[in-house]
Amino acid sequence: MASSTAVADVNAGGRVAGTGPLDASNPGIVRMRQLVDGQQYADGWSKCWEQGVTPWDLGEPTPAVVKLAQSGTLPAGTVLVPGCGGGYDAVALSGAGRSVVGLDVCDAAIQRAKQWSSSSPPPDVAFVNADFFTWAPPEPFHLIFDYTFFCALDPSLRPAWAARMHQLLRPDGELITLMYMPQDQDSGPPYNTTVLDYEEVLNPLGFVIGSIQDNDVAVEPRKGLEKIARWKKTANGAGKTTPDLPH
Ligand SMILES: C[S@@+](CC[C@H](N)C(=O)[O-])C[C@H]1O[C@@H](n2cnc3c(N)ncnc32)[C@H](O)[C@@H]1O
Repeated sequence: MASSTAVADVNAGGRVAGTGPLDASNPGIVRMRQLVDGQQYADGWSKCWEQGVTPWDLGEPTPAVVKLAQSGTLPAGTVLVPGCGGGYDAVALSGAGRSVVGLDVCDAAIQRAKQWSSSSPPPDVAFVNADFFTWAPPEPFHLIFDYTFFCALDPSLRPAWAARMHQLLRPDGELITLMYMPQDQDSGPPYNTTVLDYEEVLNPLGFVIGSIQDNDVAVEPRKGLEKIARWKKTANGAGKTTPDLPH
């Protein structure tokens, strides 16, 4: 698999991927915002990938996902990683009875993920180029893992994000959100997010937090800004999903 240095070389602003702050002090973030802002989101993200403007990209799985995968607490079965980017977290979650789909709207991201994983093919991962808001998998998933996807979406898309989480999870499924919660962002992506932002869109659909804790293994620029929440789907939200998906 490619080293994180190789990933760093293609990133804007001369910064090593993922080691800079994800705010306006990082030239890569400024450039990412210019590319994504005001575009159809798929076009904006595609430009980021094609121009190598990926300042969020760690070049390897985030330590929290490695810890989760080794914890023995994850459900077996099918796993979805929406907005998988370079695919590192999807690969880290695979195995031990878990079959993973990494999904990204940008073909360039999917090609990167396939390339990165090709030298050491993971046991059970598929990478799919499709839009999270419209993709129709054959079956709902046992587990969905969201990292730097919610915070990268325009806030107007959050109700649709929650509705899709509800649709894409089995009735007994689990949603894990590794929540990056920057403060005082004047614009995005990444956008300001709080636990309340997640609760506002997930609770009405019957999602409840089973556990929430600080991410004690966050990478340096994100230390103190991340929490891991594990959400259970309850029957309370049955029938309340909205069909308001973006076009
Ligand atoms: C901030 S990046 C995070 C990537 C990855 N989760 C990580 O932590 O490295 C957000 C990713 O979401 C993808 N994306 C944005 N909108 C999407 C959508 N509607 N469907 C699928 N992927 C999307 C982008 O192409 C991008 O790769």
